[in-house]
Amino acid sequence: MDAYLLDWVGLVLRWAHVITGIAWIGASFYFVGLDSSLTAPADERDRAKGVGGELWAVHGGGFYHQQKYPVAPERLPEHLHWSMWESYSTWLTGFALFAVLYLFNAGTFLIDKSVFDWSAPAAIASALAFFIVFWFAYDAACRLFGSGPRGDLVVGALVVALVVLASWVACHLFAGRAAFLIVGAVMATTMTANVAYWIIPGQRKVVAALREGRPVDPVHGQRGKQRSVHNTYFTLPVVFTMISNHYGFVFGAKHNWLVLVALMLAGALVRVSFVLRHKALVEQRPVPWRYAIAGVLVVVATVALLLPAPPVATAQTPAPTFAEIEAIVAQRCSVCHNATLANKNVRLDSAAGIRAHAQEVYQQAVVLKLMPMNNATQITDVERAALGRWYEAGAPAR
Ligand code: HEC
Repeated sequence: MDAYLLDWVGLVLRWAHVITGIAWIGASFYFVGLDSSLTAPADERDRAKGVGGELWAVHGGGFYHQQKYPVAPERLPEHLHWSMWESYSTWLTGFALFAVLYLFNAGTFLIDKSVFDWSAPAAIASALAFFIVFWFAYDAACRLFGSGPRGDLVVGALVVALVVLASWVACHLFAGRAAFLIVGAVMATTMTANVAYWIIPGQRKVVAALREGRPVDPVHGQRGKQRSVHNTYFTLPVVFTMISNHYGFVFGAKHNWLVLVALMLAGALVRVSFVLRHKALVEQRPVPWRYAIAGVLVVVATVALLLPAPPVATAQTPAPTFAEIEAIVAQRCSVCHNATLANKNVRLDSAAGIRAHAQEVYQQAVVLKLMPMNNATQITDVERAALGRWYEAGAPAR
């Protein structure tokens, strides 16, 4: 019953998290695209009013005329639309989901004893510390090195180094599946913290100054911009980590931290082309697809490097008997799939149960290698291959 309700909580939180995430990333992509698509205002009067750029767009049956005041309009309107709850609600639902899925079941999901053998409380405390340490390290890098002529470049290099270090540490402490998610989650936390601690407060100060007729300090705009740029390049890597938990061959790879770094790099490279694309279109230059192509090549290289070795058994090896299959499942699966503990409602403690779930057993233990969870029961490749041959022979029940 408890597991059943927890699954529901997980489902509802995941649903909400995807929705809020779409709203946040959608708004963020929209404004990045808008900003790079602006052209000088056509009407002289707009220019005199302080409009720096404009975009005409057609959408949903109407025409939209966006205008950007790079500094500020002469008079601020009463009502200003702010974008922040998309970000905050994505973080809140995401953190809750992380707690339900990984912290409540730390022994199963957070810890892989073959990676690092420690207690659940220690693993939970370290996972939480990871969020805090990453944010403070990132924030310190931006504060200390973020200004000056080469500030953006230096901070950019430091942020990359920090993400690589976080990937290495996480993959050496946590189960691969959790490690990928944690790296993405700390980056996403940093994105939301940028919004909450720098971007929005900076905007509030600017708005207050304008309303009181004081001069605006440009540092708020510069800081906000730098952090927004980081957020933009974090998005695709973060989304990759969020979906990676379905793919055992990436988080379960031998040097999984390198796979994580490579695929996040691929995402960031693809994003570079899309960010530059708008400006190129406006200026009628070719879109610089080379970054996206480089990103795709990184993915292709990773696919090639992770190519699985040919199966241990040859086609001539006879299909195992059902008794052999029952023995493997009893030893490697039943502890977590029985009458009292039936994860995902899958019971594998009887012949009927194994037959009923034959296809899922094949998917999870042979193809995806997601089961046994974190290989808690130390299944061997030979046993996986036996399960595979049994299923491919039609899952005979004798
Ligand atoms: C250490 C505990 C553990 C062991 C051992 C284990 N499982 Fe699981 N299994 C789980 C958990 C936890 C889930 C739920 C996973 C989730 O929520 O993503 C699960 C889910 C499943 C599912 C459903 C997957 C889905 O997403 O619908 C199948 C099928 C499955 N396991 C098969 C197996 C097989 C086959 C074995 C043995 C080779 C095995 N399990 C061994 C813990 C275990």
